[in-house]
Amino acid sequence: MKVALIGGTGLGDLDGPSRPLGEAETPYGPASARVRVFERWPSVLFLNRHGDERGPRFLPHEVNYRANLWLLRERGAGAMLAVYAVGGIAPELKVGDLVVPDQLIDYTWGRAHTVATGVQPLYVDFRDPFDPAMRSAVLRAANAAAVTVHAGGVYGCTQGPRLETAAEIDRMAHDGCTVVGMTAMPEVALARELDLPLAGVCLVVNPAAGRGPPGPTVQHVDAVIAEARPRLVALLHASIDNCPTRP
Ligand code: HPA
Repeated sequence: MKVALIGGTGLGDLDGPSRPLGEAETPYGPASARVRVFERWPSVLFLNRHGDERGPRFLPHEVNYRANLWLLRERGAGAMLAVYAVGGIAPELKVGDLVVPDQLIDYTWGRAHTVATGVQPLYVDFRDPFDPAMRSAVLRAANAAAVTVHAGGVYGCTQGPRLETAAEIDRMAHDGCTVVGMTAMPEVALARELDLPLAGVCLVVNPAAGRGPPGPTVQHVDAVIAEARPRLVALLHASIDNCPTRP
């Protein structure tokens, strides 16, 4: 089974030689980039949701999430790991921490958020937005690879591209959010609609607004990612080996 790995700001690319699989065109328009297979990750279908260096860049609200998910499934994905750069809201979270969220709250608006057509009623169970079996695969992998993660968290997805106000973060904390990012929705919901079990791995790149020093700057985020990358890659490698297989 192939595992789709969607990278974002936290994981722009994988190392080493790679080859593209077909074109990026889909019934929903062009995906962010062509799906790539890296020699060192033969069972992984890689896509950067913000586009790769060969094509245009997409901000969180501009990403064609429907095309990305459709394309990954079309290329043979049976499960998904999605990497997200986030701001930390919960006081115990430090910059550089990894979080495997189990819940989310959607604050986005105006994004093309469903592949349902109205022809057939589609009641998608979304009580547990992140697939429990995939989450436990990641948590077991973290144990095996000795990578420290926060096992659980509530991802609050904002519209962006601006960062939040301090009052918005206070409201999100009150709602129960522990991390804030801009890209998990509608990605996670579309994975469920397309029957792709998905787990998310969040990298805390800054304290959320009002929870620490102002920021983040691009240089600062790059430094956090560079420091975290070996841990993140080790976790993803071990997770892929652990992913539950489907018939
Ligand atoms: N807010 C929203 N999205 C983010 C943040 C943040 O503080 N950091 C990284 N992605």
